[in-house]
This record gives sequence, C-alpha cells and structure tokens, in this order.
Amino acid sequence: IETAELLIFGELPDEEERAEFRSLLTENSALHQDMGKHFDGFPTNAHPMSILSAMISALQSHDLPEHQFTDANGFREAAASLIAKTRTIAAASYKSHVGQPIIYPRYDLNYAENFLHMMFSVPYRDYEATPEEAHALNMFLVLHADHEQNCSTSTVRMVASSGANLYASVSAGVNALWGPLHGGANMQVIEMLERIRQGAMTTRDYVARVKDRKSGAKLMGFGHRVYRNFDPRARILKDAADRLLDAMHITDPLLDIARELEQVALADDYFVSRRLYPNVDFYSGIILRAIGIPVDMFTVMFAIGRTPGWIAHWKEVTDNPRQRIYR
Ligand code: SDX
Repeated sequence: IETAELLIFGELPDEEERAEFRSLLTENSALHQDMGKHFDGFPTNAHPMSILSAMISALQSHDLPEHQFTDANGFREAAASLIAKTRTIAAASYKSHVGQPIIYPRYDLNYAENFLHMMFSVPYRDYEATPEEAHALNMFLVLHADHEQNCSTSTVRMVASSGANLYASVSAGVNALWGPLHGGANMQVIEMLERIRQGAMTTRDYVARVKDRKSGAKLMGFGHRVYRNFDPRARILKDAADRLLDAMHITDPLLDIARELEQVALADDYFVSRRLYPNVDFYSGIILRAIGIPVDMFTVMFAIGRTPGWIAHWKEVTDNPRQRIYR
C-alpha cells in the first residue's frame, strides 16, 4: 500500500492515510455481479492476460459512473478500485478456469494474503497463507510496481495522451506487457527451464543453441533495454526464492537449473560481451511456483504488481496541462 501511495500520490502515507487506502482497497475489491457474467463467455483455454485486459476495459462501464474524477477523492477511489479489482479479476479468472466458485475478499487480510485467499480458498475451507508466502508475494508485487517508461508503461502513457480514461489506458498496458519480450518472459523462463529439466537438453546445450542465431532461441529472463549489468531486482528475487523454498522445506529443480544456466551464461563471452545479465523475470517464476500460482498466470501477477505504476503514469500525463498527444 505504501508503494502504491508513494508512486501515485508522491508521498508515503501516514498511518491514517494508509488505513484509509487499505479500507478503500477492501471496499472496492468485489466485482459488480454483471462482471461475473463475462467470465462465463470465455472459453476454458482463454489466456488469463486476455481476460485481464478485457475485464479491465469492461470495468470502466461499472466503475466510472461511481468514481468520477471530479476531485482528488474521486481519483483516489478509482485508483484503489483498479488496484483492488485487478487482483480480484485475476483470482476470479483462475477460479472460473478450475471450475470453482469465485471467493470474496476478507476484511482482515492484507493485499497479498487476500489474493492468496481468493485464489486458493473454497467455500468449505479457508486458505491461510503462511507469513513467508505472503511476504514473498508482497515483495514480488513491490518489485514490479514501476520501472520508468518500459514498453507497457509507455503504452499506458501513449493512450493517456489522447485523453482516454484510466481503465482504457491500463487495459492497453496489459496487452503490451503480455509480449514474450516483456512481461510474458516470466512464463517463458519456466518453460525454458522445464525443457532443460525434462532432459531435452543440458544447460550447455541450451546456451549453445542460443548462440546459434539460426535457432532464433533466446535466453529468456536475460538481457534488458536499460540494465547492461545485473538487474537489481533479479538479485533480490534470487535470494528471496532461496529463502522461501527453505522456509517451505521444498526444493525446486528449476531453481538449480536456473542457477547453473546463469553460471554457464555469465562465463560465456557471447553474453558477457553483449552485457546480458539476469533480469526481473529470471527468478520470479520460482517464487510464484512455490506459492502455487499456475504458470499461465505469471504475467498476470506482473500486471497486478505494475498497476500502481501504470496509474501513476496515467496521472502524470493527465495532470500535465501542457500535455500534447503522443505521435
Ligand atoms: C522486462 O524496460 C523495462 O524496464 C522492462 C522490465 C520492466 O520492469 O518493465 O524490466 C521488464 O520486460 C524485462 C525483459 C524481459 N524479457 C526477456 O527476458 C526476453 C529475453 N530478452 C531479450 O529479448 C532482450 O534482452 C530484451 C528484449 C529484454 C532487450 O532487448 P534489446 O535491448 O533490444 O536487446 P539488444 O537487441 O540490444 O541485444 C543486444 C544483443 C543482440 O545480439 P547482436 O545482434 O548484437 O549479435 O544481445 C542479443 C541480441 O540478439 N540478446 C540476446 C538476448 N537479449 C539480447 N541473446 C540471447 N538471449 C537474450 N535474452
């Protein structure tokens, strides 16, 4: 909550503001009953990112009449509503995919705990997230909250520059994030590690394949438009993956493969000379797997984390009286 407030409103909230924003998030978590009908229309194999962008776009018809941006409070409520409902839509799309009833948020849980509750509780048994799971998810969301004008954030700004509303702009950002070169990479990393684990090839074979340009293969989770060294978020996520798996007393062979792949790549001049290092997506999937989030929802998790940043950028464009349309 503090990160969202700082990004969107420019200051860390005091206790009272934090409590008020938190209750706005909970008050605005539930979807309008009619929104639930949209889920019935998606085929079971609908990609969660297509559901998320469609539902955020549909959300404006329900939210906007309520949350007029006539004053700061109206915007604050709409920001809280979008941050809350992005989480609810993600959990609800998972529930409709697995054929379970949609679970409502609980007042007594924080943002990350509530998400896990809405994902994994069933009417006859509440899911109690462990403190380690909730902490790891909260840290994941904070690390993804904003990152200057990356591809999807620039898309949000582009759409905002035409005067389009917050929901239309964020829905466009979800679609840009979906691409495998951007937020979609966190899913591709796991698929890459799985291919190696299933014995299709060794880490050395895979690195050799990446270096053979004809293969078209990339080392997913490596490289960055801006970072020409270790993405600082990758370091934090790598340590957090270690700690979470320890705390949960589980091992994940994909983490060992990821570490080995990193070592092989960072000892190879092809990557070093091109200054390719692990980015935010290289280790994040290990954490999401340990928490039990299905792989096809990994990029949705990135979108949930990035929503406060997208809202902040929409506000920056919209608040600027000298703003001109992008072209
Ligand atoms: C995110 O911008 C942001 O801040 C984004 C993000 C955020 O928080 O919003 O940080 C989130 O999107 C992280 C990136 C996730 N994507 C991936 O992990 C996909 C794999 N990475 C690559 O597709 C690539 O590194 C990009 C897309 C991330 C960056 O693309 P660039 O900067 O255009 O890369 P480049 O073309 O300048 O690369 C230079 C060289 C090229 O080789 P040469 O033509 O010089 O011989 O490095 C090669 C590239 O072919 N290269 C790779 C590679 N990434 C670049 N080779 C193999 N594997 C890779 N991953």
